[in-house]
Amino acid sequence: MNRSVLGRRSTEGRLVRRGVTAALGVALATMLACAGHKGEGLDVRSMPPAVVPDYELFAVRCSRCHSLARPLGSGITDDAYWAMYVERMRRQPSSGISPGDVPAILRFLHYYSQEQLKTRGGE
Ligand code: HEC
Repeated sequence: MNRSVLGRRSTEGRLVRRGVTAALGVALATMLACAGHKGEGLDVRSMPPAVVPDYELFAVRCSRCHSLARPLGSGITDDAYWAMYVERMRRQPSSGISPGDVPAILRFLHYYSQEQLKTRGGE
């Protein structure tokens, strides 16, 4: 009687351990899948193909000094405000942003602002 109870416990123990191993495997696979991406960026599959090159320039230029979450999470949805910000960032010493980069970056930020306004439901 005592023996059979112990036997069942150890079987359950093994099952639990197998579950944990499987969960760790999933977590590891997820980590490996994300390793090539910057976690804070946007998924390019979520945007129209025409926007992707503009986004990629933005993602490179605007992640040099702070994470992309800084502009993406700023809550700014106004084109004039973005123009002012991009200019301010560009003028910082060794920003690596050239005047020629600005139109594409602002194109992306305009698109992003519109998306934010849509998801906020015209706030
Ligand atoms: C040369 C370094 C540098 C680069 C490149 C840079 N930034 Fe910044 N950024 C900063 C610093 C420093 C601050 C904080 C001080 C400030 O607000 O001026 C900042 C702050 C910001 C903020 C304010 C966030 C807040 O919480 O108010 C936004 C928005 C922003 N950056 C957007 C951008 C965008 C868009 C780009 C690409 C065009 C960019 N940054 C590129 C240095 C940089």
